[in-house]
Amino acid sequence: MNRREFIHTGAIASGIAILPSGSIFAASATKVRLGYIGVGARGMSHISEGLLRDDVEIVAICDTQESSLKICREAIAKAGKPAAKEYTGGTDAYKHLLDRKDIDAVIIATPWQFHHSQSIDAMKASKYVGCEVIAGLTVKEHWDIVNTSEQTGVPYMTLENVCYRRDVMAVLNMTRQGLFGELVHAEGGYQHNLRNVLFNNGKQYYGGGVEYGPKALSEAQWRTQFNIDTDGDLYPTHGAGPVINYLNINAGNRFTNLVSFSSKARGLAAYVEEQAPGNANAKINYKNGDITQTMLNCANGETVMLTHDTHLPRPYSLGFRVQGTKGIWMDVNRSIYIEGQSKNDAWEPVKEWFAKYDHPLWKKYEQEASGAGHGGMDWFVFNAFVQAVKQKKQTPIDVYDSATMSVIAPLSTKSIAEGNKPQEFPDFTRGKWKSRKNSFALDDSGF
Ligand SMILES: NC(=O)c1ccc[n+]([C@@H]2O[C@H](COP(=O)([O-])OP(=O)(O)OC[C@H]3O[C@@H](n4cnc5c(N)ncnc54)[C@H](O)[C@@H]3O)[C@@H](O)[C@H]2O)c1
Repeated sequence: MNRREFIHTGAIASGIAILPSGSIFAASATKVRLGYIGVGARGMSHISEGLLRDDVEIVAICDTQESSLKICREAIAKAGKPAAKEYTGGTDAYKHLLDRKDIDAVIIATPWQFHHSQSIDAMKASKYVGCEVIAGLTVKEHWDIVNTSEQTGVPYMTLENVCYRRDVMAVLNMTRQGLFGELVHAEGGYQHNLRNVLFNNGKQYYGGGVEYGPKALSEAQWRTQFNIDTDGDLYPTHGAGPVINYLNINAGNRFTNLVSFSSKARGLAAYVEEQAPGNANAKINYKNGDITQTMLNCANGETVMLTHDTHLPRPYSLGFRVQGTKGIWMDVNRSIYIEGQSKNDAWEPVKEWFAKYDHPLWKKYEQEASGAGHGGMDWFVFNAFVQAVKQKKQTPIDVYDSATMSVIAPLSTKSIAEGNKPQEFPDFTRGKWKSRKNSFALDDSGF
């Protein structure tokens, strides 16, 4: 079965919907009718996932730029699917998309500053929300997302694909089987040289050019401005999402407080100067430190460290580390050590361990995921969202976990601005974390 032929018909899960059951949790559907808000690089990748499935109908797309709509329109036509209704003409155009009654859910992949209002309006219009990383820009905006989801009964999911990375899920499997013993410490982050994403020449997405803002393409149009204006961990979710699952955060455990430190900012200016000596963008006072590290405490006594490191030359690694009373996994050297089992009492390559403890969902859906973005995890996260909408149930990454992994950004900014002062972590569950159970990827009912 290839990806195009694949239609997943999972069974209806029981018992994990935690929001009040209203009309949105009525009978399951066979098809999901999607509206997309923002169809740039990431939105287009979610479009590609949708086009491969027979249980997804791409009803409408919205974007403020014709160039993004054009790529999307052509991809839909090439796939032989019906044209999607297009909404454009300004930052409020998405509201007309939300007026449609024939849309079950929206995928939001716009710049970060739009996620909060677009998600809130979508939930108020009874559309499931699958929103790309970063739920809001302030702590209050995160509460708004949680409150609106609770008040409307509409699920909200951060489309954090790294939660579904194959090695990340193998380690989840290992933690659940007790291989590392009782967990004590975890690390992760976003450690990716993004200099050629944050700057380009307006013609090609990667490499070449030192422009940002209107003269640039894709993320350089808007994301670089955050690096100029804001110190703090701008992008905590790739690290925090998996750690939330490892440590059962919001399900018997919770983050209690955090503190952030940030280095000087030299990488972006140095990059521009090297590419284009004398260019004005090398003179900008970039506020976002090159290395930002955030330490978090957990109610059950574990510590967590997250790193944001996107301005310096380095090979890619999200830098995961999971450590407990019996062993340790480190992503950066791709090694595992389990006391009493690892040969010669030394690091062992992850290969054999991950083959042995491959997550059952990866074993089952390897073929469907193969070829999808970011090593297959993009299929998983899209499928998880679609299955939840189809089955009218709670999303596997729910609003509490979504807000928790994202709010680290404004909290980290505040901690740094206040001289590395610890910040109390909001309990979005309002105490429900004590009795909630971690159901992430526990069975095949939609992950
Ligand atoms: N999970 C991942 O691996 C991953 C990878 C890349 C990007 N992302 C996230 O996806 C989101 C989008 O990033 P991207 O790389 O696609 O950026 P992009 O700049 O390529 O695309 C954003 C699109 O949104 C459009 N847009 C801007 N304002 C809008 C508005 N008000 N209404 C409708 N459309 C609007 C733009 O015209 C553009 O086409 C961000 O949250 C980013 O962090 C996630």
